[in-house]
Amino acid sequence: MIKMEKYLETIKDSIICREKIITQLYSLIGAPNEPMPESIFVYGHMATGKSLIVRNLLDYLKYNVSYINCMEHLGSKHIYNYILSDLTASAKESSANMLLKYSCDNIMDFILVLKKIFDRDTRPIVLVFDKCHRIRHFDATFLPAVLKLRELSCVNICTIFISEITWDNFSTKIGMLKPIKIYVPQYTKDELVRLLLLNKLAKYDADFYKNYLNLFLSVFFRFCRDLNELRHMAKINFAKYIEPIESKRIEPDNVAALWRNISPILKSNLEIIYLRVSTNDFLQPDHQISREIESTTKLALSFELPFYAKYMLIASYLASYIPAKYDKDIFMKQRSKRKKKVRSVKKTGEIDMQKKSRLFTISRMLAIFCAILNEKVDINANLLAQISTMCQLGLLSVVGDNVLQLDEPKFKCCASYDFVTVVAKTVGFDIKNYLNVNT
Ligand SMILES: Nc1ncnc2c1ncn2[C@@H]1O[C@H](COP(=O)(O)OP(=O)(O)OP(=O)(O)O)[C@@H](O)[C@H]1O
Ligand SMILES: [Mg+2]
Repeated sequence: MIKMEKYLETIKDSIICREKIITQLYSLIGAPNEPMPESIFVYGHMATGKSLIVRNLLDYLKYNVSYINCMEHLGSKHIYNYILSDLTASAKESSANMLLKYSCDNIMDFILVLKKIFDRDTRPIVLVFDKCHRIRHFDATFLPAVLKLRELSCVNICTIFISEITWDNFSTKIGMLKPIKIYVPQYTKDELVRLLLLNKLAKYDADFYKNYLNLFLSVFFRFCRDLNELRHMAKINFAKYIEPIESKRIEPDNVAALWRNISPILKSNLEIIYLRVSTNDFLQPDHQISREIESTTKLALSFELPFYAKYMLIASYLASYIPAKYDKDIFMKQRSKRKKKVRSVKKTGEIDMQKKSRLFTISRMLAIFCAILNEKVDINANLLAQISTMCQLGLLSVVGDNVLQLDEPKFKCCASYDFVTVVAKTVGFDIKNYLNVNT
């Protein structure tokens, strides 16, 4: 355990906020003379340091390690050969060649060669399967076999799985060995400040940069916890933050003025998070259109409506723009009839996108909804609740004073054509078939 303290000491400046997990992992595999556990499953959200922790510890321990990014492999056979060449990479040229002449096709061959490798090089062996959700697509015997490699091969070997999804998502057979699970939680706001502080440029004072990070995270933290993304955004916004200081407009210790200056910039940059475009790109006139397309698409996709709600939105849009008198013709169940009628309606050219949207009742919208859905659906309370959700999202609005109205309430669709097209696309529905749009 003295060695563990030494290790924690060496990494204390480079890996922070993760002492508990590192200690746990170290106590499981840290002693080279003791048998390691069969397998360990490390899981947690993206950019929480999973790969970093495992890789760093294994580098320190100097075991015979093979690091496998499962996304790069097509199947188990591919992986077996990759692992063997990785494990023999440090061995002397001649013996490595000897081992490599066994090209292995299945787990039994793999285990045989593994034993031979261990005979020559008695360091403990660790296989790290990163992005291991991909293993679910490999053949069914792969996972149960690698989970108990130690038992099958009688070699001091441990498999470490790194994943963003939980163990329950791996189709586990009854009787299959369960790995030891280590959960890597997301960082808190204070931890993120400490982590982002690691990227501070040497010429700035730590407190000054910390102030900036607190302002930065007060805007970004609610929307993004991805350390990689935050690092990138913190860097590009910092340049804007110090601009007024460099032009001597604002004193470095005037935090309030700096906040007033940076806050609108941060908020506008929030929109382009993950897009890898700069707000400056949009200032040129050519980018006006792309910006419009981009923002509508982004907005539409960001809503993540449930499947039926998407159809409801489409139905509302159609109800808004198609006059009720054409309903029967357009939404007739029989496809052949519908197509014919649509064409005739198109000729009249009365359904015009430019026209103001009409009001519709819920019952009409639901009738259209059932017609376009092409499947039998039970109109239940859950489904109807989507309507109020869409009203809250500003996609639909109730028109008129409901209290005094004796009729059914009337609704209006507030989403634009582009918006609905994007939503329709996500469910594979071609809205153009129903409207007179010339594209
Ligand atoms: N505790 C930490 N201390 C220092 N740097 C960290 C820490 N956690 C993460 N990082 C840095 O954040 C980045 C992402 O970390 P890493 O790739 O290990 O995350 P991950 O959990 O493996 O993510 P993914 O699931 O996307 O593979 C790396 O550049 C890493 O150096
Ligand atoms: Mg990783």
